[in-house]
Amino acid sequence: MSKEGAKNSDKNIKWHNITIDRRKLEKMRGHKGLVLWFTGLSGSGKSTLANALNEYLHSKGLSTFVLDGDNIRHGLCNDLGFSDEDRMENIRRIGEVANLFMNAGIITITAFVSPFKKDREKVRKIIGSTDFIEIYCAANLDVCEARDTKGLYKKARLGEIKEFTGISSPYEIPLDPDITVETGIMGLTDSVKQIVDHLNQMNFLYLK
Ligand code: ADX
Repeated sequence: MSKEGAKNSDKNIKWHNITIDRRKLEKMRGHKGLVLWFTGLSGSGKSTLANALNEYLHSKGLSTFVLDGDNIRHGLCNDLGFSDEDRMENIRRIGEVANLFMNAGIITITAFVSPFKKDREKVRKIIGSTDFIEIYCAANLDVCEARDTKGLYKKARLGEIKEFTGISSPYEIPLDPDITVETGIMGLTDSVKQIVDHLNQMNFLYLK
């Protein structure tokens, strides 16, 4: 994944036009392709909310898919750790994958800590700002650490996990997210409803 590779592709590889394009696929599916990008601390509820939202949209007959941090790190990104550089590469890859799914007309729901503003902004550029919905799961560190669903905060405090987000690695709070969900205090059903209401109000889901 070197910069050399990227330069070579600039020189020698030409874009091929695929005639069954995004608009045709969206028309076939009856709704828009979109990226719903969840960000927040580990334990803030991203995966749970992404899954619940996915279930809801799926039950309405929409084509959806979830890309989840822990899952993707089992495969596509299993060569990456948690240094700033590796996280940047993780988010870059997911941004590109999410873009592909969106171009297939799929409502693509991602759940990654994605702690750095500049990396999230890069994804927004890859996707295009009208199709990239940033959803901040706002449960704060105290709540996430008290929950400690995976026991990782305890390990991080003991120094057994290095570069842990919120403890020994920063989390940059989104300054202007499209949606903020108070996942520290709000229930799952209400959280899903908040997002769905927003998507409907903004006319993000269905073709006109
Ligand atoms: S990201 O920072 O690159 O976006 P990602 O969402 O893929 O992170 O992975 C985060 C998940 O990996 C967490 O939910 C947690 O379960 C696990 N994890 C393991 N080590 C760390 C760490 N050092 N920092 C954050 N999460 C970690």
